[in-house]
Amino acid sequence: MAKGRLQDRKVLVVGASSGIGLASGQAIAAEGGRVAFAARRVALLEEAVAAAGAGSVALACDVCDPASCEQAVDQAAEALGGLDALVYTPGVTLYNDIQDMDADAWRLTLDTNVIGASLVMSQALPHLEKVRGKAVFFSSISIDDQPPRRGMAPYVVSKTALETLVRAWQGEHQSVGFTTIAMGDTLSGKVGESNNSRLPDYVQGWIEKGYMYGRLMEAESVAAQVVNVLSSPETVRRLAITPQYADADTVMESVFVSEDA
Ligand SMILES: NC(=O)c1ccc[n+]([C@@H]2O[C@H](COP(=O)([O-])OP(=O)(O)OC[C@H]3O[C@@H](n4cnc5c(N)ncnc54)[C@H](OP(=O)(O)O)[C@@H]3O)[C@@H](O)[C@H]2O)c1
Repeated sequence: MAKGRLQDRKVLVVGASSGIGLASGQAIAAEGGRVAFAARRVALLEEAVAAAGAGSVALACDVCDPASCEQAVDQAAEALGGLDALVYTPGVTLYNDIQDMDADAWRLTLDTNVIGASLVMSQALPHLEKVRGKAVFFSSISIDDQPPRRGMAPYVVSKTALETLVRAWQGEHQSVGFTTIAMGDTLSGKVGESNNSRLPDYVQGWIEKGYMYGRLMEAESVAAQVVNVLSSPETVRRLAITPQYADADTVMESVFVSEDA
């Protein structure tokens, strides 16, 4: 059988129970990689492992809990026999006006999107340095919107911080290849999970400011780029992926289709 582009590469994917993390884990496994699928919803991870086939494992991980971050990385390295790459996808997006964001909203967003990323990376570092491995983190093209999208302040702040965090890691650890993927809007459960009734108004405002592209990307097409990054002999420092523009009239429809996705 032909070898895949990531044949026998040992990859920990955190946030692998749904969305882009799940699609990335599946795409890596399809290219011959051995994947540790990690997140909180273990039943979903076990389904992913069953589909990925031999050599992959499911691991419970809550990135807001430092001990859980350490344990998940240790278990992944033990189960796979080391680590060649880390893909960190967890991201919390809470929608509300900035004046209505309370301390819990800020803490959950920063714990998940920034601090957890650094804690997981710290624990993975010795494994990745040993093999001159790779680490991939998910940011958002929304951090380039000026002014930032109304209703998403903690998220935009967190992803801006994440990009600086990844540069700091790269500066202190040259032997690991760090990548930030700045993502455009992608089909996932994210919008559907929002319980803020102001969301349609926010989206309408983003459309009027020209921040939306008329369609959402598929998680699978983003995952294909993760495979490209991991299989390249070079380090892709920052990759920005946006949907191809579509008809502006269909934007609302395409965004709210994701409520059922
Ligand atoms: N979708 C978009 O339009 C878009 C646009 C720009 C950037 N991004 C970024 O791309 C990344 C992936 O987005 P997505 O849309 O695929 O998200 P998603 O569908 O909401 O999936 C998020 C994943 O992260 C995991 N997760 C969340 N909190 C966690 C925690 N405390 N500990 C461990 N795992 C946790 C979830 O698993 P459990 O709940 O099972 O733990 C899930 O597997 C995020 O960083 C997001 O900010 C997405």
